[in-house]
Amino acid sequence: MTSSILITGGLGYIGSHVAVELIANGFRVHILDNLSNSDLKQLGGIRTITGNTPALTFEKTDIRDVSAVKKAIQSHNITAVIHCAGSKSVSESPSTPLKCYQNNISATISLIQPMLESRLKTIVFSSSATVYGHPTIPAISETARTKPANPYRKTKLAVENMLNDLSDSDPEWRTLSLRYFNPAGSHESGLIGDKYDKHPNNLVPIICQVLNGMRSHLSVYGDDYKTSDGTGEQDYIHVTDLAKAHVRALAQLMGEQHEAPPCTINVGTGKCTSVLGVVRAFEHSCDLEIPSKIEPRRPGDIDKYFADPTLARNVLGWTAEKSLETMCIDTWRWANCNKRLD
Ligand code: WQD
Repeated sequence: MTSSILITGGLGYIGSHVAVELIANGFRVHILDNLSNSDLKQLGGIRTITGNTPALTFEKTDIRDVSAVKKAIQSHNITAVIHCAGSKSVSESPSTPLKCYQNNISATISLIQPMLESRLKTIVFSSSATVYGHPTIPAISETARTKPANPYRKTKLAVENMLNDLSDSDPEWRTLSLRYFNPAGSHESGLIGDKYDKHPNNLVPIICQVLNGMRSHLSVYGDDYKTSDGTGEQDYIHVTDLAKAHVRALAQLMGEQHEAPPCTINVGTGKCTSVLGVVRAFEHSCDLEIPSKIEPRRPGDIDKYFADPTLARNVLGWTAEKSLETMCIDTWRWANCNKRLD
């Protein structure tokens, strides 16, 4: 029988791409999304990409509505959950900590309740590499010390720990937290992508605002880091590669495995690119010009960090495939053709 997967926050940037990849791999997908930070147009994009398959269903529901979630789990015979719903802004969280704790921790506890009542104990959690704080070594493995320095990061680690404790308390639980590095890009169709709000904080959406004339230039935060060109270096991973890692994670959890997989896996390319490197990649791959200005460092940024992707390769059989240039081209197609930045 075809497995049915529940994706919370499934119309969001990551969730929508996960839905596309799951359907491409023969899963049925039921999306729950409260549309607080996503756009219903994403559903149209997913439907078009997946050929309007009946394997995709959606309902506007908040995961804190325990009875609605329980009804969805039971009526759709859900066999696993991919939990993407939650606050996503790292930089916003220090000013709105309670909202971040409510959306990321309380809401997850609300989600686990109906899962338990339905004896559904398989979950993949959308975590973040920001739980490592300021790593002392740039290539980060899952054994690196975690030192979350702000509310967003703390909530991601807290949910990871809660899921690990659930697994320890009941071996029937199969949980896996994926620690994302810096997701970028969009589906190659240009039909789904990130919902760039008016004031994005991340590099790639801001570059798109410069390219769309919404900003005169890109502020490059610091050129005195210990990196190839002095600007901060990070591990940018194409969102489609990231979505494929979720399919592999499900296969790992739902397969007749002989031993439980590790509870957390880094999802990154294992390579890093400087800010100016990203700018150059955009300019060369999209034949565009991005005016930029060196400005003081942004508090909290570090010289460089990127994933050690060994565990993802060995446990999930997954490796990132798409290049930075492809990320730029796909981002520009989504931003430019869909004017998501207006
Ligand atoms: C990247 C680099 C900035 C904006 C990200 C995301 C999130 C999380 C972890 C999962 C840094 C520089 C940025 C600008 C710049 N992953 N920059 N000018 O905040 O480090 O974290 O990865 O949870 O995906 O939050 O990413 O894209 O903001 O910054 O120079 O206008 O770009 O200094 O070196 P961040 P970012």
